[in-house]
Amino acid sequence: MPRIYIENLGSHVGEEIRISGWLYNKRSSGKIRFLVIRDGSGLLQCVMMKGTVPDEVFNRFDMLTQESSLNVYGKIKKEDRAPGGFEMEVSNLEIIQVAKEYPITPKEHGVEFLMDLRHLWLRSSRQHAILRVRHRIIKSIRDFFDNRGFVLMDAPIFTPAACEGTSTLFETDYFDLGKAYLTQSGQLYGEAGAMAHGKVYVFGPTFRAEKSKTRRHLTEFWMVEPEVAFNDLNDNMELAEDFLEYIVSSVLKNCQQELKVLERDTKFLESVKKPLPKISYDEAVEILKKKGIAFEWGNDLGGTDETVISEQFDRPVIVHRYPAQIKAFYMKRDPKNPNLALAMDVLAPEGYGEIIGGSQREDDFDALIGRLDEHKLPHSAFDWYLDLRRFGSVPHAGFGLGIERTVAWICGLEHVRETIPFPRMIYRLNP
Ligand code: 4AD
Ligand code: MG
Repeated sequence: MPRIYIENLGSHVGEEIRISGWLYNKRSSGKIRFLVIRDGSGLLQCVMMKGTVPDEVFNRFDMLTQESSLNVYGKIKKEDRAPGGFEMEVSNLEIIQVAKEYPITPKEHGVEFLMDLRHLWLRSSRQHAILRVRHRIIKSIRDFFDNRGFVLMDAPIFTPAACEGTSTLFETDYFDLGKAYLTQSGQLYGEAGAMAHGKVYVFGPTFRAEKSKTRRHLTEFWMVEPEVAFNDLNDNMELAEDFLEYIVSSVLKNCQQELKVLERDTKFLESVKKPLPKISYDEAVEILKKKGIAFEWGNDLGGTDETVISEQFDRPVIVHRYPAQIKAFYMKRDPKNPNLALAMDVLAPEGYGEIIGGSQREDDFDALIGRLDEHKLPHSAFDWYLDLRRFGSVPHAGFGLGIERTVAWICGLEHVRETIPFPRMIYRLNP
């Protein structure tokens, strides 16, 4: 009998098939036994009746514990009341392994307990739904750039220097060459790629030795970073708008079932359409002051500040032109006001805060040397990067989108720790 995945049952109604999976739940009523099986692609209710299967098969029901692995055989029929809309009339059941007492039960468990059992927690329906949405988000990101002629540029993980400030570097010994650092961002390599291919995207894991224990910070997270030659700050903002609209609409189109499991109110997602509101940092400061928050011009927006600003809008908001002093060395200054950087952040609505950070890049050799000095960064480690300004320098811009914060926002989650299969945080390295 052919093995079929539960998600494909629609085209097998009336057929005798095999499902291989794990026992999610079971109950009995008189001479009927109900088993809910999960196979990774969905849930299926299977019904076994005394008398219609050999007693030996019928009695196997009693041996089955939660998460036991098994094969079930039988005919598929439509059943609107069952989860997934189908049901199997079981003709045979084979046990592969009887599971030991499973530690995760339908009762409430604390988050730390579940995080210690992350390798098993992944099987639970909410976690399953979240990682399916994550998969869809990543697929839509790749589709978006691939469809627009961007070339994927893989950047190294071991790097000789900082990209996003020296305070969050993970350091390691690197043979006879001294210290290496885990990458904080692939951007600088993306810039080299953009000068070779015009438009590229870097997509990979990035690392920050973040001391902050907030619901938005991981020490290892995934970032996608487009970089485009000849784009300025406005082009960059427009790219981000098209990008976010595309991702959210793809999730809405393909993940309705997952969003339902997550009880996500999708009305906030349906409004993610171009144009997104754009405000300057100065305007953002005005909003904070009006809300009675003591905020001094020149400071970076903190988590709470971002929450307050993003709550003013029904869709993501772009904040541009931040004070240069709080931004990275590679950002170009605003020609109209050299105190400002041509930076842009995108803040997600409903209080989720920054999901994108980006800018137009400093393309002038001398100005960039000045920036390196201001940030006390060694010229030697950046000499290759300076070459990009020596040989055919052009205006260019790009941004980085954090995958986990985006998943948290789209799924409506409290904390980024559930958005990645195995989260790494200041206090968690296991499992
Ligand atoms: O704003 P960031 O630091 O920007 C950069 O790294 C640029 N080099 C990107 C570029 O222009 N190519 O980080 C970009 C995004 C943030 O908006 C956030 O979504 C995410 O990366 N991020 C984190 N996500 C989880 N945990 C952390 N510790 C994060 N730090 C940044
Ligand atoms: Mg940022």
